[in-house]
Amino acid sequence: MPEERRDWSLRVRDLVKTFKEVRANDGITLRVEPGEVYGLLGPNGAGKSTLVKQVIGLLAPDSGTITLGPYDLVADPDAARQLCSYLPQAQMPIASFRARQAIDITGMIRGGDRDTVTRRRDELIEALDIGEWRDTLGAKLSGGVRRLVGFAMVTACPGRVMVLDEPTNDVDPLRRRLLWQEVRRLGDAGVAVLLVTHNVMEAERAVDRLAVIDRGRLLAEGTPSSLKAEDRGRLRLQVMLGPRVETPALPPFVQLHTRVGHNLMTVVAEAEAAHAIRWAQELMGLGLAEEYALGATTLEDVYIRLTGDVEAAGREAG
Ligand SMILES: Nc1ncnc2c1ncn2[C@@H]1O[C@H](COP(=O)(O)OP(=O)(O)OP(=O)(O)O)[C@@H](O)[C@H]1O
Ligand SMILES: [Mg+2]
Repeated sequence: MPEERRDWSLRVRDLVKTFKEVRANDGITLRVEPGEVYGLLGPNGAGKSTLVKQVIGLLAPDSGTITLGPYDLVADPDAARQLCSYLPQAQMPIASFRARQAIDITGMIRGGDRDTVTRRRDELIEALDIGEWRDTLGAKLSGGVRRLVGFAMVTACPGRVMVLDEPTNDVDPLRRRLLWQEVRRLGDAGVAVLLVTHNVMEAERAVDRLAVIDRGRLLAEGTPSSLKAEDRGRLRLQVMLGPRVETPALPPFVQLHTRVGHNLMTVVAEAEAAHAIRWAQELMGLGLAEEYALGATTLEDVYIRLTGDVEAAGREAG
């Protein structure tokens, strides 16, 4: 990595932020390199948005440091706002602007020159497949399209750090894919991307590294494969139970299980694969299960093990 790039890493050290009695961030340390897409995963209320709001200078920490290259972002929140682009978790207030105007205006406020911003706006509208709505007023856009326009607004003239808080909320599966491609492109252009998401499976494909946060603390950090490595030797057996079927008695080889709706997810040792299949077939034979699948553990299994957040699995299964 060239020296110039290495100097621009984003470093968060021992960050603490409390709201009355809630320790929203309880000593968080992490580092994101330019060109890296870094995911922040964690259940509702984990402290993800609080963390990114401090990075971009919207909230002041109680203690700890945040630096970007030579800049102290805590001491200099103006620098933070200038150097970081931010897509907030809440929708952008663009009711009275047409989609393309909203993108142009934010690009130029961020210091882009008109020609570059115009070109970039057209590229983004095309890449995100939202051309149909380029002249539509913000107030008339659907939630998902508004989200995509928000993304185009903040990426028309990106800073050195891009903070995206739940960028794919409300976006349909096909355009989500387009959005992830653009996120990847930002990384490839040398931007450090800090990406907050609930979508574990999508994160697995889109990020270089990720941190799992819960109750203000960083529980684990690494590449998707290094995090999954701890689950080596285990398999996931997923059983789709029939309607109104109670969770059946679990055989002793089931190491972990969660149930969301009809979906019973279990983790079993690789050595027990044959037993696991036999058990699933028995459940089908008894009419308790409709189908099953045995496969490698995923990042989602790691995430559930760390946080106990079964809802994430439900979102994926649904
Ligand atoms: N402005 C605030 N005033 C008081 N408490 C707050 C404030 N902002 C956040 N909190 C609390 O801090 C904790 C962390 O909230 P935060 O918004 O960072 O979570 P999150 O991980 O982004 O959750 P979600 O996935 O639901 O967006 C929560 O307990 C929340 O209630
Ligand atoms: Mg949040």
